[in-house]
Amino acid sequence: MAPSAWAICCLVGGLLLRGGCPSPGPSVPRLRLSYRDLLSANRSAIFLGPRGSLDLQALYLDEYRDRLFLGGRDAIYSLRLDQAWMDPREVLWPPQPGQREACVRKGRDPLVDCANFVRVLQPHNRTHLLACGTGAFQPTCALIAVGHRGEHVLHLEPRSVESGRGRCPHEPSSPFASTFVGGELYTGLNADFLGREAMVFRSGGPRPALRSDSDQNLLHEPQFVMAARIPDNLDQDDDKVYFFFSETVPSPDGGLGRVIVSRVGRVCVNDAGGQRVLVNKWSTFLKARLLCSVPGPGGTETHFDQLEDVFLLWPNAGKNPEVYALFSTVSAVFQGYAVCVYHMADIWEVFKGPFAHQDGPQHQWGPYGGKVPFPRPGVCPSKMTAQPGRPFGSTKDYPDEVLQFARAHPLMFRPVRPRRGRPVLVKTHLAQQLRQIVVDRVEAEDGTYDVIFLGTDSGSVLKVIALQVGGSAEPEEVVLEELQVFKVPTPITEMEISVKRQTLYVGSRLGVAQLQLHQCQTYGSACAECCLARDPYCAWDGASCTRYRPGTSKRRIRRQDIRHGNPALQCLGQSQEEEAAGLVATTAVYGTEHNSTFLECLPKSPQATVRWFLQRPGDDGPDQARGAPRTKCPCSCHLRTPRPHVVEVIQRRKPTNS
Ligand SMILES: *[C@@H]1O[C@H](CO)[C@@H](O)[C@H](O)[C@H]1NC(C)=O
Ligand SMILES: *[C@@H]1O[C@H](CO)[C@@H](O)[C@H](O)[C@H]1NC(C)=O
Ligand SMILES: *[C@@H]1O[C@H](CO)[C@@H](O)[C@H](O)[C@H]1NC(C)=O
Repeated sequence: MAPSAWAICCLVGGLLLRGGCPSPGPSVPRLRLSYRDLLSANRSAIFLGPRGSLDLQALYLDEYRDRLFLGGRDAIYSLRLDQAWMDPREVLWPPQPGQREACVRKGRDPLVDCANFVRVLQPHNRTHLLACGTGAFQPTCALIAVGHRGEHVLHLEPRSVESGRGRCPHEPSSPFASTFVGGELYTGLNADFLGREAMVFRSGGPRPALRSDSDQNLLHEPQFVMAARIPDNLDQDDDKVYFFFSETVPSPDGGLGRVIVSRVGRVCVNDAGGQRVLVNKWSTFLKARLLCSVPGPGGTETHFDQLEDVFLLWPNAGKNPEVYALFSTVSAVFQGYAVCVYHMADIWEVFKGPFAHQDGPQHQWGPYGGKVPFPRPGVCPSKMTAQPGRPFGSTKDYPDEVLQFARAHPLMFRPVRPRRGRPVLVKTHLAQQLRQIVVDRVEAEDGTYDVIFLGTDSGSVLKVIALQVGGSAEPEEVVLEELQVFKVPTPITEMEISVKRQTLYVGSRLGVAQLQLHQCQTYGSACAECCLARDPYCAWDGASCTRYRPGTSKRRIRRQDIRHGNPALQCLGQSQEEEAAGLVATTAVYGTEHNSTFLECLPKSPQATVRWFLQRPGDDGPDQARGAPRTKCPCSCHLRTPRPHVVEVIQRRKPTNS
């Protein structure tokens, strides 16, 4: 830099921001990237299929085969993960002859319902997937040959096509959850033709199909969100399939109103139904309420009762997952969203606790106080239930008394409370609605962070962290990025994460996008910008903002401060040359005297404030420039460049008095 140069410095965030500048609200993202930004930076790639829209209903991420399978309208797709959407394969699977016409005759909308919307894609065995579709209002299943690992084939086995009743809903829009365990498909759905008969169903294996007991009103207009096998312990006999859903139930205060509540329900994998009672019906089904509420003044609580989505965060192989649940509230006064986290241990505790009991329809619910029969209803037959002379090897051996009790008491009395008793994240007054949640546990320099990705109804993804600061009960929320994944506003309906590939797969009705979890250089080319971003994936490596990898920090000192985002501490001495200029956490752009170049300072973060300083050669320190530097700069330095120049970060040292 020539000694006669004028330095015009643009301050991005940093100490001055902390020293009294108004801080923007927590919901303002640090970085907002448009659809174009994401594509041009190769951060995302979009697949919309050959017809410009997939009508996507199902997405299965197969990391063993390195492929992504998509279920759409009358078609299934296979994409290779190791190539940027190269080489898509398509299998057309329209309704069977006559089904479309029959659907129209039933009075269904030919465009909305009378196609085969593929809603189930589950791994069947090493070479085949099980696929089920709505089949123009006649659910249908088939096996899809996908080849061994390394092959890229996709074709439908015509001889495998069979009825999908109970395994797939009739409609593309009806809430539904499924999981494939031990060769059998578990579904939570409205199986009835008119969408009225809600049930949990198991089918597909050599055992007879098992379903919910429809006489007992076990489920009240359930909206299924997720189903998964979660082992309770190392004893496989104890394995259960958990269902997450919400229900509409009569108001607990005995009035005429109805309220929405969220549930976790479960069944034993080795449930075989009863021998005389509950024949081919679940004998181990239990459910409990999932609570997610914010304590208010005077003991009031704001409840978030409508379950939107659930993500299981498996920390390590063999450990129990943490249950991340996204809720909304449907109150007349405001719309809000909350994320609550549940430990499996707390869920198990509730299922071990008292059963809910009601003496009659008009009575209050209370804990069941009588004697509970043995084996305890809801317990899977295993070594634990075995007694001398009475092995209880199967639920068919359970005494009638046990099955009668299970039938009459499917609900637990206590609700499941979230970790720390409150949400980790609450969002109100949002412009968008939140639909999907995915979480990644990230190691950073100063600790471990759960990065939460939220899919909105406007085709964007929010990347958020919730910090537990000091002893405060209320977490601090930092919105790191807002990423407009789809060009047009469209609700995000599917989200899957590949930690191995550091990629998020984001689905909407239109199609699917692969989105990198991070792109650190986007935060800027300055240490201060990198530090202010507070992104656990990113750190300043001395030269640029790059991916932070724990354990590799020996070579270089990595600068990162997720907890406080304080560049003054982190970026001290990061640029010796600029220290002489004595500026504070600053990105500087330079212009020379009599040069009418336009200087621009566009901070990457919408949270940063910009101030301009002017440094004349020979001055002790910079003066803050008045006026708008982009149009007019004082002191005859009218500067203009065709492109914004962001050159260097400079960091002020406290003046030493000697
Ligand atoms: C994006 O990827 C394409 C193809 O691989 C490449 O040509 C282009 O330079 C990349 N752009 C950026 C900004 O990395
Ligand atoms: C998978 O199942 C299909 C259909 O039952 C069968 O044809 C195929 O051989 C099976 N593949 C393997 C590897 O067992
Ligand atoms: C004016 O300043 C710009 C930016 O520093 C520089 O690229 C350009 O060469 C300068 N022009 C003259 C005439 O010095």
